Amino acid sequence: MGEQKKIGILTSGGDCAGLNPIIRAVVHRAVGCYGWKVVGICRATHGLMSRPPEIMSLELDKVDPLLTMGGTVLGTTNKGNPFAFPMPNGKECDRSEEIIEGYRILGLDALIGIGGDGSLAILHRLAQQGNINLVAIPKTIDNDVGSTEYSTGFDTAVNIATEALDRLHFTAASHNRVMILEVMGRDAGHIALHAGIAGGAHIILLPEIPYTIDCVCRKIKERQALGLNFSIVIVSEAVCTEQGETVTKMEQFGECRLGGIGQYLAKRIAECNGAETRVTVLGHVQRGGIPSPLDRLLGSSFGVAAVDLIAQGKYGEMVTWQNRQVRSVPIAEAIKTYRAVDPNDTLIQTARGLGICLGN
Ligand code: F6P
Repeated sequence: MGEQKKIGILTSGGDCAGLNPIIRAVVHRAVGCYGWKVVGICRATHGLMSRPPEIMSLELDKVDPLLTMGGTVLGTTNKGNPFAFPMPNGKECDRSEEIIEGYRILGLDALIGIGGDGSLAILHRLAQQGNINLVAIPKTIDNDVGSTEYSTGFDTAVNIATEALDRLHFTAASHNRVMILEVMGRDAGHIALHAGIAGGAHIILLPEIPYTIDCVCRKIKERQALGLNFSIVIVSEAVCTEQGETVTKMEQFGECRLGGIGQYLAKRIAECNGAETRVTVLGHVQRGGIPSPLDRLLGSSFGVAAVDLIAQGKYGEMVTWQNRQVRSVPIAEAIKTYRAVDPNDTLIQTARGLGICLGN
């Protein structure tokens, strides 16, 4: 069975469906198969900054309900980069050494970090600075982590956005309206592309493909000429205005977030086409809820593989999903490239083949 290890696990960045199934799988593999101990670290790296470190015990006989739970029982945050941590006096402070010290206080042999590209870059830097034995697992509804076809959380978000389109069809058809669905995804259009095709959208707008309102309105007119007096548009939150400006909104505490492109498009389409237009912003609904079967499979596979990497002493690796196989790549390689939608992606060809307007 090998030496008994004590490993930590944390979730970092925005929550998504599939995090809890990963935690469950890690406990099953590490405790159930290897006989190790697993310590849950609360609120991402913040838990390692606290004194004593903020932890949660993860017992084999208690983790099974996690399979169907959204969010993360460990808590998470997408704020407070430890290398430039915002202090109460308004200044920023490098608190990385406190986190490394927290890892040592807990006597951990290795750490499993679950995050998107931003969190993984921070964890990788911490690991290098503090000789932390890190293994990473990709998660994000945006599906923009490099080197992996899927990140945990993406599939559930696509399911939710697809269901929203299915529902919007009825109102669009009943009222002869143009219905616009604005979805998340940060700078990558994966959610809009996947849900747009699966949900039968007539127009899909992605940050990766420039569009014109003329082209969008032409598609709506073509449909009207066929007697189809409604159209469904799905737009990714990072799509810009025609002038190339990013549309953002200010949240509390002065935080700027993407949002509002749907309203912009509605106004421009109504001006150009005269169509009655409505906007739905799906927002954080995409992040929550019961993990889809695929996210449970991915989460379970990633969790098992991450523990196996630790057993083999293969640190500094991120587990990936490639050609229906779980593999791993160096974290440094995964975070080097942002995974946006490739304009030659097979689904782009599919969308064009279906006559879906991509805005150009
Ligand atoms: O990265 C995940 C994500 O949901 C993005 O799609 C979105 O732009 C952002 O996080 C929202 O962040 P917050 O939860 O801070 O509003």
